[in-house]
Amino acid sequence: MVTIKSEREIELMRAAGKAAAACLTDMIKLVKVGVRPIEIDRACHEWTVSRGYVPAPLGYHGFPSNLCISVNDVVCHGIPSKDAPAFKDGDIVNLDVTPIVDGFHGDTNATVIVGRGKPETERLVKTTLESMWRGIAKVKPGAALGDIGHAIQTFAETEGYSVVVEYCGHGIGRGFHEDPQVSHVGQPGKGMKLREGMTLTIEPMINLGKRHVYEEDDGWTVRTKDGSLSAQFEHTVLVTKTGVEVLTLREGETNPLI
Ligand code: MF3
Ligand code: CO
Ligand code: CO
Repeated sequence: MVTIKSEREIELMRAAGKAAAACLTDMIKLVKVGVRPIEIDRACHEWTVSRGYVPAPLGYHGFPSNLCISVNDVVCHGIPSKDAPAFKDGDIVNLDVTPIVDGFHGDTNATVIVGRGKPETERLVKTTLESMWRGIAKVKPGAALGDIGHAIQTFAETEGYSVVVEYCGHGIGRGFHEDPQVSHVGQPGKGMKLREGMTLTIEPMINLGKRHVYEEDDGWTVRTKDGSLSAQFEHTVLVTKTGVEVLTLREGETNPLI
């Protein structure tokens, strides 16, 4: 069921989005050569509960950690387990955080390069960021979900990359994953029309190689089949009367398209 948020619920979503952005900012600062994913998991737990918030991933359908950490060929849902290896120079690391604040979810992620990245790695990350923003730019009342997917897909594919189709953005609110599903591929005009008061995430996963992915035996970790790098960015957005408000914008973060 698609939920349309009231003015009061929108205020609560703003607060959740702001918390998610601040959490992601602070977690990104910790990503350095030699740091282990479990250290960031612990920091995320502490960051979240010390403010009276709840880390939505922990226990979600049995997910064992406070955030997802997806390194290199891990597409999404990476588990920062106690034996996950320390970050190395040139790794790409996606941190995906989702605090619950007063019952509402804020969901955001970003991919960072540890130390020095190769030019091809930098181009993948930059293109993925721009593809998310091109999707966000389509959001307004009356636009179709397919407009978002099409903008992302055509840009990423023109740059020579592929778009993961098995995992999508989603409606968000009191629920972590609400309707509708927000595909990162699509055709203009197709699919549900957006309405003022909807809140959703846009979170494209873009692969350097082919689009195909598989899930590991742990039931969570998703990797590219061909072992190529995969990058992702995510924002939670609100459909406003005239367009879009990005609820998880970080301090100093700017839209690279404007
Ligand atoms: N934060 C992810 C998303 O963007 C979902 C993670 S589900 C979890 O939708 F259980 F792995 F945390
Ligand atoms: Co999400
Ligand atoms: Co997320």
